[in-house]
Amino acid sequence: MSKTKLAIFASGGGSNAEKIIEYFSTSVDVEVSLILSNNANAYVLERAANHNIPSFTFNASELHDSEKVIDALAAHDIHWIVLAGFLQLIPLPMIKKYNNRIINIHPALLPQYGGKGMYGHHVHRAVFNNFEKESGITIHLVNEEYDKGRILFQTTVKLTTTDTPDLIASKVLQLEHEHYAPIIENTIMDH
Ligand code: GAR
Repeated sequence: MSKTKLAIFASGGGSNAEKIIEYFSTSVDVEVSLILSNNANAYVLERAANHNIPSFTFNASELHDSEKVIDALAAHDIHWIVLAGFLQLIPLPMIKKYNNRIINIHPALLPQYGGKGMYGHHVHRAVFNNFEKESGITIHLVNEEYDKGRILFQTTVKLTTTDTPDLIASKVLQLEHEHYAPIIENTIMDH
């Protein structure tokens, strides 16, 4: 049987993308086949090149029209989409085409600290400002609203009074690196 082909959308550094690529590099079931970015300067594109994985970049209006992006996904026979630090809203035609086959990771415990504009350091600063005693990660399916799709997995990390937003970010990123790829694998296998 041929492998299930996965595309990763990322806007920035792509440390999660790297972990996912490494995790599936030995899989007999799943393959990371395409990296997509809305940012032509994103380091994740270099990571893709280092792993000999094709990449595709687009601008906001191309994503919004979505035909070009959907064509690229089809050309690579992509069956699942994973968002790893992708900061734009996925347009409705793509959500319909990949119904329940788009997965996102959010660096906090949804439904708190989610929604438009809540990404990366904005999330960790808000958690810090509210003196939260814990934070964590949420892995969820993507629907047409930011951070609102069905939750697949959450796990928490304790915060201390000496944790700065940067320290919170690194604790949370560690959880993401540990859990994202295995949860993607389970979700695909259970589908
Ligand atoms: C990750 O912490 C991810 O959860 C977050 O961006 C970071 C990307 O890091 N995503 C969001 O905030 C989406 N709302 P990476 O580029 O090193 O994987």
